[in-house]
Amino acid sequence: MFKKTLRALPIALAVSATAGLSMAEAPEDVLDKLIKKTNSPYLTQSPQNIMIMPDNPAWLVADEGAILFRTPRGPKNASLEKCDFGKGPGVLEGAHVELPRYFADTGKVMDLDSRLVHCMKTLQGFTDNDPAIKKKHGSDSDIMKLQTYIASKSGGMSWNPPMNHPMEKAMRNAGEVMFYRRSGTMDFSCSTCHTQDGKRIRASVLPNINRPDEWTKAISWPAYRTSHDHVRSSQHRVLECLWQMRYPDIRNGSDASIALISFWTDAARGAPAILPDLKR
Ligand code: HEC
Repeated sequence: MFKKTLRALPIALAVSATAGLSMAEAPEDVLDKLIKKTNSPYLTQSPQNIMIMPDNPAWLVADEGAILFRTPRGPKNASLEKCDFGKGPGVLEGAHVELPRYFADTGKVMDLDSRLVHCMKTLQGFTDNDPAIKKKHGSDSDIMKLQTYIASKSGGMSWNPPMNHPMEKAMRNAGEVMFYRRSGTMDFSCSTCHTQDGKRIRASVLPNINRPDEWTKAISWPAYRTSHDHVRSSQHRVLECLWQMRYPDIRNGSDASIALISFWTDAARGAPAILPDLKR
């Protein structure tokens, strides 16, 4: 992995030089401002993680994603440069902070993960069984490389998922019901653990959804998880929290997963995104 990264580095640097117009703000600077503003125990819980943020390994994954994005691939031998993430074909700046959103071409509310898969299928001709699409998790997966790159173009921008289309509102509202509804063998709801200031599970301080300047860090994915040594996605976090609640595994890209992500993104509205982030 390291060798491969070194070889990719000169190309990645050239790519980022040409993309120099990006307005994205460094994640460590965004976090620093939020800490000064809030003094939140969730944001400040790991001085070690704050120290290594400028050297976040997620940047190497994003650089690999930048190359993949521009490389003609798949049966149709096309790049992803014409993929529309909601702000027009190929526009990545600020796209991630406005997802999930409704897309007229599919008639669905889609998150970053499902929209990316849609473009890999329609533009590049990949199918569900191709490794490029099938492998959803891990820093070595195409999906995570691409998501990390695309999301990095929204660093410091305010979460602003559109709520104009009835489907966008319906998805957000369904996510709200899921967040507050107690069920499963442990009778947990998401709100059991995520609606109080400074609540802990052992050493971990849990983020409070009612504080946008704190909650923004909770929903800033992709993030490099030091305990996993991998970059993880929003979809992966949904899966993990439901697993923690002893629910059955949720299907990647299902409406239920996107509803939860719609609701949690709306809850961070107006707060700046920390992308890519680094977490426990
Ligand atoms: C039993 C308590 C519990 C429940 C219930 C729970 N979570 Fe979590 N959640 C956690 C813990 C613990 C973490 C990880 C914190 C850490 O690693 O420092 C976490 C992390 C998160 C994060 C990312 C924040 C981070 O720092 O990694 C989000 C977003 C989140 N949960 C959303 C949800 C949603 C949505 C639900 C309901 C589907 C839910 N949680 C249910 C305990 C819970």
